[in-house]
Amino acid sequence: MCGIVGYIGTQTATEILLSGLEKLEYRGYDSAGIATIWEGDVNCVRAKGKLHNLRSKLEQVETHAQIGIGHTRWATHGKPEEYNAHPHMDAAMRVAVVVNGIIENYSELREELKQKGYQFRSDTDVEVIPHLIADFFKHSPASVPFSPSLFLEAVRDTVKKLRGAFAIALISADYPDELIVVRQQAPIVIGFGQGEFFCASDTPAIISYTRAVLPLDNGEIARLTPLGVEVYNFAGERLKKQPRLLNLNPMMVEKQGFKHFMLKEIYEQPGVVRACLDAYFNADWNVSDSTNSPVKLGLSADIYSDLEQIQIVACGTSWHAAIVGKYLLEQLAGIPTQVHYASEFRYAPTPLTPNTLTIGVTQSGETADTLAALAMEKERRQGKEPKYQARLLGITNRPESTLGQMIFHIINTLAGIEIGVAATKTFVAQLMAFYALALDLAYLRQSISPTRLQEIINGLRQIPGEIEATLEKQEHYIEQLAHEFAETKDFIFLGRGINYPIALEGALKLKEISYIHAEGYPAGEMKHGPIALLDAKVPVVAIATPGSVYEKVISNAQEAKARDSRLIGVTPVNDGEAAEIFNDLIPVSKVDELLSPILTVIPLQLLAYHIAARRGLDVDQPRNLAKSVTVE
Ligand code: AGP
Repeated sequence: MCGIVGYIGTQTATEILLSGLEKLEYRGYDSAGIATIWEGDVNCVRAKGKLHNLRSKLEQVETHAQIGIGHTRWATHGKPEEYNAHPHMDAAMRVAVVVNGIIENYSELREELKQKGYQFRSDTDVEVIPHLIADFFKHSPASVPFSPSLFLEAVRDTVKKLRGAFAIALISADYPDELIVVRQQAPIVIGFGQGEFFCASDTPAIISYTRAVLPLDNGEIARLTPLGVEVYNFAGERLKKQPRLLNLNPMMVEKQGFKHFMLKEIYEQPGVVRACLDAYFNADWNVSDSTNSPVKLGLSADIYSDLEQIQIVACGTSWHAAIVGKYLLEQLAGIPTQVHYASEFRYAPTPLTPNTLTIGVTQSGETADTLAALAMEKERRQGKEPKYQARLLGITNRPESTLGQMIFHIINTLAGIEIGVAATKTFVAQLMAFYALALDLAYLRQSISPTRLQEIINGLRQIPGEIEATLEKQEHYIEQLAHEFAETKDFIFLGRGINYPIALEGALKLKEISYIHAEGYPAGEMKHGPIALLDAKVPVVAIATPGSVYEKVISNAQEAKARDSRLIGVTPVNDGEAAEIFNDLIPVSKVDELLSPILTVIPLQLLAYHIAARRGLDVDQPRNLAKSVTVE
């Protein structure tokens, strides 16, 4: 995934583009570049690595350009080198292009262009675009009837030749008052200011300048000039579109005194859980209320009726939330549920089952694998008899995303924008969505008693306060503990039952931001192989919450201790066997076992954060990663 930004107006473009790119750096940071039009030429400056490298280079360039485009890259085609950085230009250096996405048929287009004598300077798929535009100009008439601009026509002609998922922004020195923006299955929004217009892959890039935005739909091209914005479809017909006001405050995309976004986002979790409680649960419901539902997700009967099975597709942290979801849907609502990695499901789908709900979980709503798995499911069920037809539900933090446009039924996870590449608050919000869904289904199917339902909802209402207590009481201790592990090479995380996915999530958090090798295992599986890894150099974090598997986890932890591992317990129990076996004990509050994952994940997030921070790593932008992965 990459980030693109564009500006046309009356202010100096460079600073606006750079500040936009700063907000988009979470999308990729292998290289960055901007192109502006100044004194009749395109000025293009690019730098390998993070944005500060580009900033230093730009200090030597004086320009008062009022139009420009910028890009921050997560490398797909071609190494993260300056020659592969965007913007890419035609041979005459008149057209500059930035792209987020992939041009699938680039090799054939590249070959055709080479045959025509065009020379390529990069290894990217994107470079075909400026050459195709130059080729159009070479053979085009001076104008196209009924079209406001030949540049627009050149872009329209070019995008019709491209296959793939992409968002593009383009400028041309020969059309210095036009910024052209294209969307085909990769997000892009247009921003409306006072006599100035913007485009960006994501709204945080422009929120400091305007809250009036228009997200483009697939197959649309926008032409931005100092006088306004026109939107066309790929057939060239003008479309009527209305911008809308964003409910986003610029402060949400600032660190607000925290050293990193990740830490800020960890601390936002009590508020996120409160927002979900308010939105998902009926505050007035009580056990004797037989007319109202305790849950108010607003999902219609076509999702719920005659439901026999649920299948969930997701990636990474969202996949971990889905495994907690499976546990809840099966244990509370009694519905058999399967969880698939979206990237696997796409190529090995399960046989079609009747009356099946397919849930896609993706915080960004842009993960290519998840979207493709859902699209495939929709397609293969099309035209089948009613019970086999697709029922799709999306759980996302970005309802305005591609997922939101593709699926009618959405649960909005209400975590607010998450900037840190490592997901924290969006994970907890996804868990809340699964609690609400499982309880809604349990209520409708009467699979648990109203008293038990009330007990769980009451327990959920306590969670924000318990997270606050964990943060307040444990962060300092966890930070000290983390210092002792800054040089550790391997970590094992153990959990069982509903806390097994939390062990996976703890390991993923540590891997992705500290680059320490970590594995999460169901505690009972250790003895079947992984126990061979253990010795005094491999610490083991065990999640031991009272309930169905507490004693089992303690026994598994004992087995690790017998192999000299240092044992860190995440547990509400601080006496008896737990106090004896754990070398380090991170207390969490005692809650219903079913609710424990929302609490046990907090110390693991803090542990990963503090180990990475102690190692002096870039916590918010870990190497090789991007916030969401819009390529296969
Ligand atoms: C989370 O910390 C990761 N950065 C990553 O695993 C992420 O959860 C995964 O790429 C899925 O993203 P999504 O939720 O936006 O689909």
